[in-house]
Amino acid sequence: MPEKRHLLHLQPATPEFAGDISALHSSLFEKAWDADGVRRLLEHPASVALVATAERPWRVIGFILAQLTADEAEILSLGVGVMSQRAGIGKMLVQGLIEMAQRKGVKRIFLDVAASNAAAIGLYRAMDFAEMGRRKEYYSHNGGRREDALLMVRDLGESS
Ligand SMILES: CC(C)(COP(=O)(O)OP(=O)(O)OC[C@H]1O[C@@H](n2cnc3c(N)ncnc32)[C@H](O)[C@@H]1OP(=O)(O)O)[C@@H](O)C(=O)NCCC(=O)NCCS
Repeated sequence: MPEKRHLLHLQPATPEFAGDISALHSSLFEKAWDADGVRRLLEHPASVALVATAERPWRVIGFILAQLTADEAEILSLGVGVMSQRAGIGKMLVQGLIEMAQRKGVKRIFLDVAASNAAAIGLYRAMDFAEMGRRKEYYSHNGGRREDALLMVRDLGESS
């Protein structure tokens, strides 16, 4: 059942969250990211990351990880726990990232998403990201199957 909004907190993902993010990431993606790798990412000065946490019991139910390069940002990963999906948490995480990125002077946010990932593509479209290209056979799945990536972008402009 989706989490209730009033029990949710959105906050910057400090390195202490690495283990929880790694565990949630592993439950959502074929290729796991270990906690040390996530911690190094969070410690990097160019990283911008948020977690959504729920109370009672306290747990991390969503995360977004991005990296800044000059005035652009790339979303590296986004995930919401299966039991908490479709309750607006993904949108909150993307909106929170946009606001953090704008405060840091970012003008455009990019990401790659698997062409079959209807949920993520639907979310990014709903957040005004536009498709700007396709990378052929960019992802390799377990078992060897390959899949195209869609490259999506959102211009942040001067305000909004
Ligand atoms: C993609 C993901 C982060 C979405 O998180 P979420 O919290 O469920 O998303 P939201 O509830 O904020 O949904 C916002 C909008 O996205 C779209 N969307 C979300 N899930 C969808 C689905 N399963 N099918 C189609 N559209 C979907 C809808 O437009 C939705 O708005 P609506 O509920 O008003 O129709 C989540 O499904 C997830 O973690 N998936 C596994 C990991 C993953 O694929 N990450 C993205 C890698 S780039």
